[in-house]
Amino acid sequence: MLITGASRGIGRSIALKMASEGASIAVNYASNESAAMDVVRELETFGVKAIAVGSDVSDETQVSEMMDIIREKLGPIHILVNNAGITRDGLLLRMKREDWQRVIDINLTGTYLCSKAVIRDMMKAKGGRIINLSSVVGLSGNAGQCNYSASKAGVIGFTKSLAKELAGKGVTVNAIAPGFIETEMTDALSEKVKEQILHEIPLKCLGKAEDIAESAMFLASDKSRYITGQVLQVDGGMGL
Ligand SMILES: NC(=O)c1ccc[n+]([C@@H]2O[C@H](COP(=O)([O-])OP(=O)(O)OC[C@H]3O[C@@H](n4cnc5c(N)ncnc54)[C@H](OP(=O)(O)O)[C@@H]3O)[C@@H](O)[C@H]2O)c1
Repeated sequence: MLITGASRGIGRSIALKMASEGASIAVNYASNESAAMDVVRELETFGVKAIAVGSDVSDETQVSEMMDIIREKLGPIHILVNNAGITRDGLLLRMKREDWQRVIDINLTGTYLCSKAVIRDMMKAKGGRIINLSSVVGLSGNAGQCNYSASKAGVIGFTKSLAKELAGKGVTVNAIAPGFIETEMTDALSEKVKEQILHEIPLKCLGKAEDIAESAMFLASDKSRYITGQVLQVDGGMGL
């Protein structure tokens, strides 16, 4: 199994949950090797095989090299979690082209590159799971996040299309749309913004990375075998 962006936050939590169920895991990261190695050591306490693989998911050559390493060390990839993601927030009036492009490149093109690199293995095995991290703002939009919302809406279109392409091959493709989850990504928000967000959440609290990990576990398991092309909102009711 490959989880992109698993050196911290939601990716790390998904890795821990999957390892607790016995999965071998490749922990992808962009730059923070020591954090990824810490996650690998945590995963090994469950008695599973785990490796850390550094690769920028928006770089085709790096993605291809990462897949070769994983296949050599862990075998073919049957479960892919496209979790790596970034924000570069700002109102469109002031949004630089590079901030638009970087977010699209990592969040959307990274999902395309990693999925494309594993589907042959999955088709050959006549089964597989792809789980893509979208966001509630990919459904609703959010002022100051034109780049991020567009990337996450793109992930939803990608998920539905690929689900149709691969359904006959036994491969399911689903997305999770988290609301506001306590991670380093949301730590960057001011207390005032967090207060405003809390008002918009019917369940009146931010989510935890573990809430997303439980959903990912379900979508990776046989329990979800008849579900494909869906977007599971894990958002405390925010999208209602
Ligand atoms: N937190 C939320 O409230 C929330 C809500 C909705 C959706 N999401 C989505 O959930 C996913 C995880 O979010 P998070 O809050 O856990 O994020 P996070 O704490 O900021 O962690 C991001 C992870 O992505 C990795 N990463 C960044 N750029 C990368 C690249 N180019 N190639 C490979 N890996 C890269 C980072 O690696 P390094 O450590 O090496 O930098 C890190 O492991 C993202 O797709 C995010 O958009 C989050």
